[in-house]
Amino acid sequence: MPMKHSKYSVIIVGSGISGLYAAIKLSESMNLPDGILLLTKSQVSESNSRYAQGGIVGVLPENTPDSVSLHVADTIKAGCGLSDFNVVKFISENSQYAIKDLMSCGVEFDKNSKNELTFTLEGAHSVRRILHVGGDATGYGIEKALVNKVKNDPSISQNISIYEQSHAVELLIDAKGECRGVIAFNEATNEFETIYAGATVLATGGVGQVFKYTTNPAVATGDGLALAIRAKADIKDMEFIQFHPTALSLDNDESRFLISESVRGEGARLVNNKGEYFMERYHEQKDLAPRDVVSRSIVKEMELTGDDRVYLDATLIPIEKFKTRFPNIYKKCAENGIDVTKDFIPVSPAAHYCMGGIKTAVDGTTSIRHLYAIGEAGCTSLHGANRLASNSLLECVVTAFELTNTLSFENLQVSDAIDDSILKAIKNYEPEDMPDVNDCDVNALISRLKDTMWQNVGIIRNENSLLNALSDLKKISEEFGNDRFCSSAEEFELRNLLHVAKAITNASLSRKESIGAHFRDDSPVSDEKISVEVKNNESISVK
Ligand code: SIN
Repeated sequence: MPMKHSKYSVIIVGSGISGLYAAIKLSESMNLPDGILLLTKSQVSESNSRYAQGGIVGVLPENTPDSVSLHVADTIKAGCGLSDFNVVKFISENSQYAIKDLMSCGVEFDKNSKNELTFTLEGAHSVRRILHVGGDATGYGIEKALVNKVKNDPSISQNISIYEQSHAVELLIDAKGECRGVIAFNEATNEFETIYAGATVLATGGVGQVFKYTTNPAVATGDGLALAIRAKADIKDMEFIQFHPTALSLDNDESRFLISESVRGEGARLVNNKGEYFMERYHEQKDLAPRDVVSRSIVKEMELTGDDRVYLDATLIPIEKFKTRFPNIYKKCAENGIDVTKDFIPVSPAAHYCMGGIKTAVDGTTSIRHLYAIGEAGCTSLHGANRLASNSLLECVVTAFELTNTLSFENLQVSDAIDDSILKAIKNYEPEDMPDVNDCDVNALISRLKDTMWQNVGIIRNENSLLNALSDLKKISEEFGNDRFCSSAEEFELRNLLHVAKAITNASLSRKESIGAHFRDDSPVSDEKISVEVKNNESISVK
């Protein structure tokens, strides 16, 4: 039976904060005759950003100690000078608008008794500037408001169709090398569909599931990135994976629940199994040093003590404050028998965020015409070698907004003309005879991939470990079947994880220096010290 086909003015793949916000802004501001398709492999309310706890950066005039210059300086310092100055400045300058607009979409940031927004602190920020929702449920709070608008505000929802349990499995690239939509696989019906679009937006989030230990949910398998790699789009900075220092580390439990950095921002301190507060031995900013520094210090401390975790002393935070600020962390700890008033919380680092991704401008434009990427899937070079906490949700909103501006100047007329290149892509998914596939245990291969990535491409790497990973990935690819015909969600995810894992490993081999989150114990730490100076809270100079 020939594949079903349909057409939309814009397809957005992924329903995290960037995808939802882009759908809302496009629906509000443009007349799109073929409408918008929001395509998600899970439920519309599930995404990586949903699990962000700490918050979103708000550089707001009422927060007088803060300024765009200070935020730019903090971002560039944390990113070890590899951020793009103009991108950082642009995103910071747009923070005020982004926050106000999120509020007009129904997001309720936490306020004090005087009805003023409250700001918290996270690592490597020089002032309190992080807004939060529901204490420690910022991603969830923002996502909930945006889903509500997408589904229940008739002026918005009338333009948006939603496909759930649908995986984008191939970009339709025509003979001119332009993106004309996607091929999607519906997990519920096992059917493929060709979906043509005037613009295709990848808002597929992160890659945490490439690693054995991650704070990311099961959906974070780097799907958009893998699609872009297969289509030969430009990719950037894949060696820079951020390992969050404090994920809950329980015996016999591989999942890693995030213990927000803002717990340290509110006074908790890292301690080893001898009861020593150790961060002062590693960095002048102690427990609130940049994340890459804290994660490596924890690894060192685990080696020194022979323990496979360290601890967070949150007894330093008054309990009533802890319960109000961190209700979900409090609940999770209590469910696991941890009384935060007297017990230390066991923590260890876990993969958290990919600073690299599909190379984009600040409006999501990629190297392929009509293909866009926003949020964690894209790489605007905001984060450089190490992301400053809570900059990512801000980037999601600003890039989605800029994308809308750009698309308003584009001709989004949809053509469903089929040329040889598109025909070939379609034929791959509707073969006349079912191809033979290797008989293998896909979930076992996924576990092996995660193990080798954690062991060999984790917080500390070197040439030997990276070559070991490449050799393991090659074996896994062969057992799975290079260019295998995939026909289930797990198979598509393994295919994607393989592409992403290879991209991370190859990029890590190519960068011979250690810088930011990319640390090689066989390579010198980059000696290009950057100096970021802010004068009178206004002008910035980066040397
Ligand atoms: C956290 O709450 O520690 C995570 C926030 C972030 O990654 O930006």
